[in-house]
Amino acid sequence: MADRSIRIGGLTLKNPIIAASGCFGFGEEYNEFYDVARLGGVCTKGLTRRPREGNPPPRVFETPCGLLNSIGLQNPGVDAFIREELPMMKEMGLVVIANVWAECAEEYGEAVEILSRSAVDVIEINISCPNVPGQVIVGAQAQQAAEVVRRCRSLCDKPLWVKLPPTAQIDAAQAVEEQGADAICAVNTFRGLAIDIETGRPIFANTFAGLSGPAIRPLALQVVYQLAAAVEIPVIGIGGITSWQDAVEFIMAGAHAVQIGTANFIDPLASMKIVEGLQQFMEDRRLHSWEEIRGCAHEGSPL
Ligand code: FUM
Repeated sequence: MADRSIRIGGLTLKNPIIAASGCFGFGEEYNEFYDVARLGGVCTKGLTRRPREGNPPPRVFETPCGLLNSIGLQNPGVDAFIREELPMMKEMGLVVIANVWAECAEEYGEAVEILSRSAVDVIEINISCPNVPGQVIVGAQAQQAAEVVRRCRSLCDKPLWVKLPPTAQIDAAQAVEEQGADAICAVNTFRGLAIDIETGRPIFANTFAGLSGPAIRPLALQVVYQLAAAVEIPVIGIGGITSWQDAVEFIMAGAHAVQIGTANFIDPLASMKIVEGLQQFMEDRRLHSWEEIRGCAHEGSPL
């Protein structure tokens, strides 16, 4: 009998499919389409210490095989999340991964400390949002990334995952591993640009926006392949995954699990179809566990 579960640090997920932050709300709407508790886990929208209204519209713009977004971390803040959304998520039986963003290490620490006393299962430290005016992407700098993770680790006993930008170098991944991260999530969206040719101005108020969707998949896969070889902790692959075949590619590149984002907007059943496709793949291949193929694309792998 195949074991479809995966272990990430001390946590066992029933399968390697996780709904990505920002593409799944708090899970409630998708629960009308299928039992969302059948997913390995659900990542919340990026949460901040205090509520945020986000960026002015437009906030999304479609590109060939991709989606640019500039949401600007609209969210109710950690206190309201814990009070108003988390109980419903736990009642639904979800493994809850709270994605957290902040302006500085101290503020990350504050938000993470509050969440660590709540019923969330995992905290995903988001040091890779490309959409906040005037803010650098901390995850692109090994030293700054390490400082944030050090601070959060000292305040939190829950599993800490760290979501890196596509521009993160191997040294940033190794730095957060050294500070006690339990997993690396790669990648967040690529910074992109769209220009309105009538006005000659950028489409988005914040000029740049985050590109996701199948357009970025081979680029994300390349990053995951490299990071998986460079760190000991699990890597969770993200970037344009829309089918179970895409998910298998990421596992073969070395990912323990994958997150499904933009595909949920194209087909609300996408994440569940990927769970079922992977289940069939395991049966057809007579796999006993994901370990049998994880990282097989790397040179020197036994496969
Ligand atoms: O604009 C946003 O809220 C995006 C967040 C992220 O990519 O982490």
